[in-house]
Amino acid sequence: MSRATQATVNLKALRHNLGRVKQLAPKSKTIAVIKADGYGHGIVRAAKALEEADKFGVASLDEALELRSNGIRKPIVLLEGVFEASEFSKAGLQNAEIVIHHISQLEMLEDYARTASSAASRMSVWLKIDTGMHRLGFPPDIVPIVWQRLQAIPLVKEMNVMTHLANADDPKDIVTKMQLQLFDKVTRGLQAPRSIANSGGILGWPETHADYVRPGIMLYGVTPFNSGAGLDHDLQPVMTLSSALIAINYQKKNSAIGYGGEWVCPEDMLVGVVAIGYGDGYPRHAKSGTPVLVNGKRARLIGRVSMDMICVDLREQPDAKAGDPVIVWGDGLPVEEVARCADTIGYELLCHVTQRVKFVEKN
Ligand SMILES: Cc1ncc(COP(=O)(O)O)c(C=O)c1O
Repeated sequence: MSRATQATVNLKALRHNLGRVKQLAPKSKTIAVIKADGYGHGIVRAAKALEEADKFGVASLDEALELRSNGIRKPIVLLEGVFEASEFSKAGLQNAEIVIHHISQLEMLEDYARTASSAASRMSVWLKIDTGMHRLGFPPDIVPIVWQRLQAIPLVKEMNVMTHLANADDPKDIVTKMQLQLFDKVTRGLQAPRSIANSGGILGWPETHADYVRPGIMLYGVTPFNSGAGLDHDLQPVMTLSSALIAINYQKKNSAIGYGGEWVCPEDMLVGVVAIGYGDGYPRHAKSGTPVLVNGKRARLIGRVSMDMICVDLREQPDAKAGDPVIVWGDGLPVEEVARCADTIGYELLCHVTQRVKFVEKN
């Protein structure tokens, strides 16, 4: 039998989660965010499953081209815009919509438009406003002039406005309210579709829904909030990362387990070895005590995570045997819980599953 390490991608759950977005924001259109290889689930796979989305959001033209070369025809928004002027013509040809978030991008677009041939494709543009995230976007006071300059570019087909929420993952944080008020003020009078909400906004801040919502992490069944799990919001986990026990050893009291010998057996006990490690994307910093499911029952990680293996405490599973299934996150074990044990977030764990893991689709 080959190595059992596998990521199962539940496409039905992906579609269910998009359905949740639509229930929560019934008046908004959806830009499904599938950048970073569909948050680690496979960008093309995610796009094909999310056919009910109105548009897709990606981080780069390369990601958009991958979608196009796999037959995805929906509009695609380049959330970081282009990185060099030569990308404008390709983006136009591919019906990609371009975020303009910085004066250098505006100037690049103006230059391109001056020299472009009359056959160049016209493009939809998203003017991004910094309302408090202080990462990408124009400062509010120069938005009117940027708006005018964009409108004066003949290649600009349609204008949209957007901002990004910095603290929507905390449903009580006042910054979201301030960002919303500022966005309303700056965009008042601009005739353009608006987009504000990421998953945190969709779930926690209905007033941010606007014309387009931009869900990412919630599509994959994971909560954007600091506590709880996707299931609390009727989201279903999409990725289940699993493997199997490859050895079960009876270790004597005081045996130190794994590299560094940080975890020491408090008594004579059964220790299971699972074929998964940081070489597969399981977090190296997961602490002893991190839950895993062995045969569907909770067990605990013990000792340091190795590249290809982890060890688990089998004291409560005396009948476990080599070949028994182990789930490290997904069905029955929220990735959020594992992430907290590794001082990280579910987003990171999902994105980090490595190429040697076999991906299997479940419908
Ligand atoms: C501009 C933009 N919109 C939406 C999203 C989706 O965010 P989330 O995954 O928190 O829903 C992201 C993700 O980082 C983003 O950068």
